[in-house]
Amino acid sequence: MRTSKNSKMANVMKPSFFVGTDIVDVHRVARLIRNKKFVQRIFNPAEIRYCQNKKNSAQHFAARFAAKEAVWKALGHILNGKGISHSEIAVINNASGKPMVRFSKRLKPYENKISLSLSHTETAAIAVALYHSQ
Ligand SMILES: CC(C)(COP(=O)(O)OP(=O)(O)OC[C@H]1O[C@@H](n2cnc3c(N)ncnc32)[C@H](O)[C@@H]1OP(=O)(O)O)[C@@H](O)C(=O)NCCC(=O)NCCS
Repeated sequence: MRTSKNSKMANVMKPSFFVGTDIVDVHRVARLIRNKKFVQRIFNPAEIRYCQNKKNSAQHFAARFAAKEAVWKALGHILNGKGISHSEIAVINNASGKPMVRFSKRLKPYENKISLSLSHTETAAIAVALYHSQ
């Protein structure tokens, strides 16, 4: 009886949301993206196209860099400290502009459980990722 009560308690206390955030210096990213190899290692072709078509490319690249870090933090309990590469997480925008994540094959089961929000100025880009288990 006691065990059952304890396991019910454990379920009740299990968080169903995990959040991750990151803030990135846009000027630093503006310097980094001069290196083509860096860009290709961190971003996928669709992300590169999206950012390069924008007037302030560095801001959009910086927001995506922040998004990848934020998603990694939000997935921390699943990854258990294991690293993932930036290229396993991509940010795409739907028709209204809302950003969404696309994961590599091994992370696919979590793709629809992540919500993402981005914002950027001339100097800083920020991302917030929310993992919801339901
Ligand atoms: C789309 C909008 C939110 C962008 O805001 P902004 O201050 O110009 O720019 P920010 O840097 O804060 O945000 C830009 C990011 O917003 C995200 N975004 C764009 N459209 C979005 C949408 N429909 N839903 C959610 N996020 C969106 C994108 O990720 C974008 O960055 P990206 O192009 O690099 O992917 C803004 O143009 C807009 O439509 N505002 C109206 C909001 C409104 O009606 N407010 C009423 C408050 S009560």
